Amino acid sequence: MKKLIAGNWKMNGSVATAQTLTEDIARAVAAEPALLEKNDFLICPPFLHLSAVRAVVIPMKAPIDFGGQDCAHTEDGAYTGDISADMLHDFGCRYVIVGHSERRQHHNETSELVAAKASRIHAKGMIAIICVGEKENERGAGHEKDVVGQQIGHSLPSSATAENTVIAYEPVWAIGTGKSATPEDIRVMHRFIREKLQEKLEDSGRVRILYGGSVKPDNAAALFAVENVDGALIGGASLKADQYIGIAQAA
Ligand code: PGA
Repeated sequence: MKKLIAGNWKMNGSVATAQTLTEDIARAVAAEPALLEKNDFLICPPFLHLSAVRAVVIPMKAPIDFGGQDCAHTEDGAYTGDISADMLHDFGCRYVIVGHSERRQHHNETSELVAAKASRIHAKGMIAIICVGEKENERGAGHEKDVVGQQIGHSLPSSATAENTVIAYEPVWAIGTGKSATPEDIRVMHRFIREKLQEKLEDSGRVRILYGGSVKPDNAAALFAVENVDGALIGGASLKADQYIGIAQAA
């Protein structure tokens, strides 16, 4: 399975920096075609910067997918400020991230809401990247598997298959802190996630499970060597082309 190198730009940058960053990434991938043998590339900019990314990717024919960082739980209607999966599909997105811990935390998103969003993504033939992960106090209390097991149990809609679903395990305490989980923590949790997926999906062995949380070029090789780590969801390091590409080079 190729590694999915997914950049989550979060709420950063401008139209101009989105364009430059995409150009730099596209040039780096074009200069090193061997990267494509081991990796699939995805960037998820803020909604307003998707058009700047697309305006680079399409004319350069860059082998880079782009996607949303979130979407609405329903098709259309009176939802001021929301963007639907249908709109993202119409725009050319292939992936949408849902259930990121920052959405669960700052927007009180529940796993049931995440499942409704993923269901809309699947209905449009796109791939949902469903994020799960425990908080520091939950791990401290030894509850990390309960938390992640519950999130997996409730965040996947009945439409989920290996083709349309990616899981991103992101321990909340590792996001943006520079403190990545250890390879052993990740091995144990990714195996657990694989087992939970077996209860829900027929083809669970083929679901990609990404790790996210302070992935950098210097720890990526060790993380990618862990069994059941099929890529990375990258925040901070995805905002610098050399770091993002450095992570892909580690695959
Ligand atoms: P980070 O963020 O790489 O900056 O830790 C990861 C994420 O939140 O997806």
